[in-house]
Amino acid sequence: MSEIKVELKERAYTIFVEKGILGKLDNVLEKKLKGANVLVVTDDCVKKIYAEKLVAELAKISSQVAVFDFPAGEESKKIGTLEMIYRAVVRNGLDRKSVIVALGGGVVGDIAGFAAATYMRGISYIQIPTTLLAMVDSSVGGKTAIDLTEGKNLVGAFWQPMAVIADPTTLSSLPHREINCGLAEVVKYGVIMDNIFFEFLEKNSGKIKSLDMHILTYIIAKCCELKAQVVSGDEREESGLRAILNLGHTFGHAIETVTEFGKFHHGEAVSIGMEMAAKFAVLQGMMKEDDAKRITALLREFSLPVENPGIEPEKLVSAMKKDKKNSGGKIKLILPSKIGSVSIVDSDEKHLLDFLRKND
Ligand code: NAD
Ligand code: GLY
Repeated sequence: MSEIKVELKERAYTIFVEKGILGKLDNVLEKKLKGANVLVVTDDCVKKIYAEKLVAELAKISSQVAVFDFPAGEESKKIGTLEMIYRAVVRNGLDRKSVIVALGGGVVGDIAGFAAATYMRGISYIQIPTTLLAMVDSSVGGKTAIDLTEGKNLVGAFWQPMAVIADPTTLSSLPHREINCGLAEVVKYGVIMDNIFFEFLEKNSGKIKSLDMHILTYIIAKCCELKAQVVSGDEREESGLRAILNLGHTFGHAIETVTEFGKFHHGEAVSIGMEMAAKFAVLQGMMKEDDAKRITALLREFSLPVENPGIEPEKLVSAMKKDKKNSGGKIKLILPSKIGSVSIVDSDEKHLLDFLRKND
């Protein structure tokens, strides 16, 4: 089993990655859940496949377990669903010693985490990610949020989980499209901070695509290690270090917002966003074209979209202007300088528009 520590003093916790770990939770959660009232929050799709087994496991180690589910999909990451979660929490008698367990992808993790962050001014929660994206990214680091019509993740809190438990065998039921979405975030780690990992992905793309469990488990643990390093160094995205995890996300979130969260899944929008960031970096003279080509090739290898889907540059830039990272009227972008390294750049709206018009 891989155990990765997220070093955050009194908020430190461990990420456990192991095939089949969901069948032996008492090993890792017994002390944390002893006597606790637990509410599993999940979506209707994940509930059908994994909730029964999880409840049976949790019942062995906690005092009471209930399940609340909501319709799967980004459209559910909104205030109405949050209110339903609070009501389920109250209905099931959760108090300050109780624990919310987020079982599912990033949507479940983000909204259940936000419910935990705010109910009774904050109760504990555990992340049990079941998508690749959630295993390598969203379950780690304590960012919780809901979307507004005006933009992604505009309301949220930093609230660290008490543990993260990733069982790669759950990926066998995940649709290919969702695996690919997770791979967009995996590629991101290579580009932002680890060229050797990027090369590993290039060399092993065949095995990754065929869901070789050994390789996938390695990749999940590696990405968690890289993210844990970043989060430990800049928990609340203050020094700029954590912002590097947003490579492709300023473009990506804007694409999701303009297309009303319906056309692209998050990982796909991030893939297009990384491609745009790489091309923009080349245009600015920051990165060699060959590096940008390798990024495009790897994203394509994982069947990810890389083209602007015809969004008008003005609309995209207007959505990008709402990004939380911006300040002083400039759009902050994470741009690669080579594979394994990025810089944070204040971009001028006009340069960005010119670039997007050329690539339209
Ligand atoms: P998701 O949660 O919508 O899951 C994708 C789909 O897969 C859903 O339909 C879900 O029901 C289904 N699913 C989940 N696990 C399954 C399994 N094992 N088998 C079969 N189906 C399964 O999407 P996602 O891609 O996991 O997460 C995207 C969200 O994560 C976005 O809202 C994004 O903003 C957020 N995010 C947050 C962070 C963070 O740091 N908090 C980081 C990255 C992304
Ligand atoms: N996914 C970006 C972050 O966790 O900071």
